[in-house]
Amino acid sequence: MDPEQTLQEARTRILECEDADALKRVEREYVGKRGAVAAILASIPKLAPEQRKALGQQANALKQAILAAVAERQKAFDAEQLDAARRADDFDPTLPPPPAERGSLHPITQVTRELEDLFVSMGYEVLDGPEVELDLYNFEALNITKDHPARDSQDTFYCDADGQLVLRTHTSPVQVRAMEGRQPPFRVIAPGRVFRQETTDASHDHTFYQMEGLVVGEDISVAHLIGAMKTLLRGIFGRDLDVRLRPGHFPFVEPGFELDARCPFCREGCGVCKKTTWIELLPCGLIHPNVLRAGGIDSERWSGFAFGLGLSRLVMLRHNIDDVRHLLDGDLRFLEQF
Ligand code: PHE
Repeated sequence: MDPEQTLQEARTRILECEDADALKRVEREYVGKRGAVAAILASIPKLAPEQRKALGQQANALKQAILAAVAERQKAFDAEQLDAARRADDFDPTLPPPPAERGSLHPITQVTRELEDLFVSMGYEVLDGPEVELDLYNFEALNITKDHPARDSQDTFYCDADGQLVLRTHTSPVQVRAMEGRQPPFRVIAPGRVFRQETTDASHDHTFYQMEGLVVGEDISVAHLIGAMKTLLRGIFGRDLDVRLRPGHFPFVEPGFELDARCPFCREGCGVCKKTTWIELLPCGLIHPNVLRAGGIDSERWSGFAFGLGLSRLVMLRHNIDDVRHLLDGDLRFLEQF
């Protein structure tokens, strides 16, 4: 079979097609599994070795040329169809086009912005901090001594050989950075991404979001802390919720607490509060004097409180999301719901 002649023949057949179905049939006849091109390829093994390469190349060129001719004819059919549709009686050129698809803000971004607005309205400043942080800020200045378990390589991603640089494991390093750059009194929040060396499961991920809060002033007490947290709850859940404090240990606060809120979803106990009617909201406490000193603040004169809100957890609570990993895996079926 002569490839040149086959191409001529194919082109004529393609031009003769009157519609897309006929075109499909002709296409199959030439480049389908049992088509002319396949026949040429099948004949190659019978040739003398020195002829094989040339015929193989010709067969491939033939296939490409036929496909190009098919595509061109198909384009003509498409254009004809469009023309016909436009000539039809019910064609209205003044109709607006279908709306373009729009994206939406990630639920973490939504919550972050809402909380930023809320805290700015209470006189807080919104701060940022580096995600690759010095060991000094992530641990040392926060009163977390060298042998504290939080520094174990189980928990922390180290970024250099001598362990001076880490991916921050919480937003608390921004506390010290904030103190260094300001004179009390001040109030700041610092939302952001944090990292831990975790085996992931439905409630743990190696990357998640927190929001740090820090208030430094004269005679700041636990009463101020509770007041701020009740306002926070009102902002999140839209109504007043009772809170309770349980003791909690964090080296950078003294005393330290776990703050629980009454479950906003039930009265008698439900799946969200695990039948206890309380939900764990956040850890918090009064700033440890060592941390104030590390930030260059006179701990005799000033005091303050700090809290660490888990934004990822809050988003899960708000939208009833059962797996934290949905928040980062970029699956549109999940994201399009927000
Ligand atoms: N940084 C702590 C953590 O990630 C939380 C915390 C923040 C606790 C502020 C007390 C005060 O676990």
